[in-house]
Amino acid sequence: MKCFLHALVLLVLACTLPAAESLPAANSAPAESVAHVVVNDPHSYARPAEIRVEHLTLDLEVSFARKQLIGTATLRVKRVQPNATQLILDTAGLTISKVTLLPGGRPADYRLVGADAVLGQKLEVTLTPDTTDVAVQYATHPEAGALQWLAPAMTAGKTHPFLLSQSQAILARSWVPLQDTPQVRFTYDATIRAPKELLALMSAENPQKKSADGLYHFRMDQPIPSYLLALAVGDLEFRAFDQRSGVYAEPRVVAAAAREFEDTPAMMKAAESLYGTYQWGRYDLLVLPPSFPYGGMENPRLTFLTPTLIAGDKSLVDVVAHELAHSWSGNLVTNATWNDFWLNEGFTTYFQHRITEQIHGRAFSEMLWSLEYNEVKEELATLPSADQSLYLELGRRNPDVAPGTVYGKGALLLRLLEETAGRDRWDQFLRTYFSQHAFESMTTTSFLEILNAQVPDLANRVSIEAWIKGPGLPANCPVPQSDAFTRVAQIAEQWVKSGDVAAIDDSKWSSQERVHFIQSLPRITPEQMAQLDERLHFKDSGNSEVLFAWLQKAAQERYVAAYPVIEHFLTMQGRRKFLRPIYTTLAKHPEDLEFARRIYEGARPTYHPVSQAAIDAILL
Ligand code: BES
Ligand code: ZN
Repeated sequence: MKCFLHALVLLVLACTLPAAESLPAANSAPAESVAHVVVNDPHSYARPAEIRVEHLTLDLEVSFARKQLIGTATLRVKRVQPNATQLILDTAGLTISKVTLLPGGRPADYRLVGADAVLGQKLEVTLTPDTTDVAVQYATHPEAGALQWLAPAMTAGKTHPFLLSQSQAILARSWVPLQDTPQVRFTYDATIRAPKELLALMSAENPQKKSADGLYHFRMDQPIPSYLLALAVGDLEFRAFDQRSGVYAEPRVVAAAAREFEDTPAMMKAAESLYGTYQWGRYDLLVLPPSFPYGGMENPRLTFLTPTLIAGDKSLVDVVAHELAHSWSGNLVTNATWNDFWLNEGFTTYFQHRITEQIHGRAFSEMLWSLEYNEVKEELATLPSADQSLYLELGRRNPDVAPGTVYGKGALLLRLLEETAGRDRWDQFLRTYFSQHAFESMTTTSFLEILNAQVPDLANRVSIEAWIKGPGLPANCPVPQSDAFTRVAQIAEQWVKSGDVAAIDDSKWSSQERVHFIQSLPRITPEQMAQLDERLHFKDSGNSEVLFAWLQKAAQERYVAAYPVIEHFLTMQGRRKFLRPIYTTLAKHPEDLEFARRIYEGARPTYHPVSQAAIDAILL
């Protein structure tokens, strides 16, 4: 595929032995023989084709008073080009006090160059021929892009502060100097010094109890890309689900969290039956305070979750299925650059729906597929056609603003491949793909080569180029069919015609049907909104997805009776997916824009930098 030639293959290095045929045993590191194909990553200054970081040792003090991590990152390096002397690391806002070369501990020649708003600064360190490790002494900036330092008021317990990290996509460099590209994997160990009342957790082997002195040691023996490096520190407790999984949350939240997510072991079994043994040892969940900017984040061994998933009825747990699925798509086989993001998120969204189908049946998973399909169609319509393809051309744009359409469009392509090849054949392909390419990074081009080699003609039969390079949803796109949703849409239509709100019987509706009902409504008046609210109580919903759909509609229709609820919703949680559409809608009307700005002025300090950046772009 000539179109991908610009993703210039610089070097195929090290050993070119084929990857092991069989799955490595749980907890094992991958074979030494993984070939590292290096392609240009526009989002990193690192030059892994010359020198690669193989292991990271962190020794950090967590200072809530200064909002800083302070300490040392020691990087073990491997020369890929025997004569390479320049180690180039990514950093953002770090204050570096000293760099030393090991063995010996002599001060290194180093310089920090440039200051790009998206990429940060490049740290160049000159190595000597005998250098095996480079130790960087540093402190993070109080406004580090990955970190959020929460005052006690922003936690459930209101007594202790909380720290959380979000490294994806290119924010790891704001708390650790490293080769911040998904093409470099490293193992790590860490020593974290936290206030002694708090528990520290990482994307690694974790403690289940607080230590007496606030000192914690971590090990991650399986190589991970930098965007999966994670840290959280807070007043946390653990509850086990079974032998290999459980949940951490604040004491006031942990019982509800344990109930909500208790089916996690069943999801793990379903996922394993589809695509092979879970490779990461434990799978735990961490429920964060509501300012966490995402629904979930697939940090290895410890998925981070928003507490807005706790609906009381397990209705939003497919986000856990999604993050769990990343343990294969993303964490084992990793997008080589953020342009290949669909290889992470499209695969994972497909896998997520397969897990849900296995557990709840086809009728239920078709509802989730339909929501996905409607969302992707709607969002594609708002994007310039260059941003509608699965393979992205992000250039120097921040990958955090990558269009969300790669989730749904990617998943629909995989569904089409499944339907065309047959489910058994397709599942067999995916199982082999995950096992043969575990702990590797993958470009879109290599994926296509693998697909063509394993299932000849399949890509051709689905005209895959149109999906990967072209705009919109191609004509052969599968259309999910949910009878339940068809009925709900009919009810919405009848109500619009008749105005008979009492005829709507929602007593057996799932939260997904409620969301679909709201999304099927045509433009209606604030009076009609009020009628629906009186009957269906959307404004008081304890389900964050239902409430979000309703408040988004309320902002569109200027249903001002719901504005106090909008204000509360935008203030009590910081999930970007919920904030961005509502602020965007409010910003369209001059009076509402003022209202939005007033809310944001108060709420901004409570949002994570990721959400701040998204809302700044809308309102400031
Ligand atoms: N890995 C993503 C979150 C992410 C993507 C963070 C890109 C930073 C940059 C995570 O797996 C995710 O997709 N979360 C979704 C939930 C999912 C069910 C669609 C979210 O947070 O909304
Ligand atoms: Zn994801």
